[in-house]
Amino acid sequence: MSIVEKQPIFYQVENYVRNFCSDDATGHDWYHIDRVRRTALFIAQKEGADFYVVELAALLHDVNDWKLTDDKKMPEKTKSILERYNADVGTIDHVLYIIGSISFKGIKSERELETLEAKVVQDADRLDALGAVGIARCFAYGGSKGSRIHVPEIRPKNFDEKSYVDAAKKGTGTSINHFHEKLLLLKELMNTETARQIAAERHDFMERFLEQFYREWEAEF
Ligand code: NI
Repeated sequence: MSIVEKQPIFYQVENYVRNFCSDDATGHDWYHIDRVRRTALFIAQKEGADFYVVELAALLHDVNDWKLTDDKKMPEKTKSILERYNADVGTIDHVLYIIGSISFKGIKSERELETLEAKVVQDADRLDALGAVGIARCFAYGGSKGSRIHVPEIRPKNFDEKSYVDAAKKGTGTSINHFHEKLLLLKELMNTETARQIAAERHDFMERFLEQFYREWEAEF
């Protein structure tokens, strides 16, 4: 399918997603979606993935996410959006598979993804949880759920899926622990070589941030 032919659906899906996340303050706003889309297309080009599916899935990747909605009908709604804009059945199934599979639910729930396009979109989303932007998003998400910044007495946990999801939704953990429970693990979980290279630099930046954070916390000069 040529670039010209696929313009209308992207325009329409983009409008739908902008509307969905317009007042988000948890780090899952439109700018997150747009960064994930651009990063995913960059990785797709390097890795030889299908641009059409990758771009649609990147745009829609958060609309069904458990962190943002409890609406069990969201997959059905997303499907009808894609049908309304004339996506073919194969594309719709693939996009729904991707957005239903890529979210992090604790290290114990990690599963190998089935398609290159799913791996690319997951990598792009996870890269946005790393580095300077990742740090900003971590504290924004934590704050939005009432999590505290850092409580030394609360140690990082090795959650199973249900406890990870519960803690993230209820804000019972701390934002600093989130680095140890998720963010610092992501470098090793990248699916593609392209993402692994980008993740390495962002990971080092977060390590430096944490070293400085702990030094200031202890009032060491
Ligand atoms: Ni996301």
